[in-house]
Amino acid sequence: MNYTQILNEIYQEIKPYSNVGEPASYIPELQKVNPDSYGICLRTIRGAEYVMGDSDERFSIQSISKVFSLAMGFCLEGETLWKRIGVEPSGSAFNSVIQLEIEKGIPRNPLINAGALVVADILLSHLEHPEEEYLQFVRQLCGGNKQIKYNESMAVSEREHGYLNAAIANMLKYHSNIQNDIERVLRFYFRQCSLGMSCRELAQAFIPFSNHTQPFKFDKITLTASQVKRINAIMQTCGFYDEAGEFSYRVGLPGKSGVGGGIAAICPRKYSVAVWSPRLNKKGNSVMGMKALELLTTKTEVSIF
Ligand code: DON
Repeated sequence: MNYTQILNEIYQEIKPYSNVGEPASYIPELQKVNPDSYGICLRTIRGAEYVMGDSDERFSIQSISKVFSLAMGFCLEGETLWKRIGVEPSGSAFNSVIQLEIEKGIPRNPLINAGALVVADILLSHLEHPEEEYLQFVRQLCGGNKQIKYNESMAVSEREHGYLNAAIANMLKYHSNIQNDIERVLRFYFRQCSLGMSCRELAQAFIPFSNHTQPFKFDKITLTASQVKRINAIMQTCGFYDEAGEFSYRVGLPGKSGVGGGIAAICPRKYSVAVWSPRLNKKGNSVMGMKALELLTTKTEVSIF
């Protein structure tokens, strides 16, 4: 497969969308990025990398971090995790409060904000040094890369404006689905979201989800092939909130988006891909990122379907 040529063709075809959408504005710190950035990295399971554009610039991974938290939470908690969180697509916005109220504090899935807050609570209960161990895990997914760091001003910026997430955390606590101090859970969650990673780093971090033939083993965090399969299934059905069906229809790969404009996706047993462009559509997903991945699976004629 000539991925270099395909990435070039994709870039030419998505250029007309370069002014569509706006970067997220509800986290002030996110407004500091150049809205016209665009980067992509495709990494095969054999380690070959194909890059274009701003593929080495770090950006805020935001909700993509929910996949890393889920991997840790699933490893540490096992099947009992599903007593506190469902595995159904929400069909609602990522920060919806109303669904959580109706469903009595059980988040629909671990990839919406409510679910990720419960996972953060679970990690706080299991780990002695949660922030350090979370960062260590993500660094290990990238071959021990110490350049990957939390962006403290991003995390603080989000806490200062995080009224909806605070409402969600309070609702969860009311329904006894948070055990630790709410403020502690929120701060840990915002730090996870603030992680700065490049497309190249994200593509590397997602290879263990793509490659079931290798054991998923990073210090304390190990997953069976069956558990990795289930995480991929959740990405497929829930990774794009109320646009999960659209992404599945257009792209046909498990993936996860973030309001920083990043999307990471995997083609099982073939490659992982990360794309970044900060301009978002109304559902909070990157306009050019979604279009680029749609063209990738259309041109390669390979997806999970
Ligand atoms: O909690 C939030 O609202 C953000 N830290 C993350 C949301 C997000 O990335 C949704 N993604 N499309």
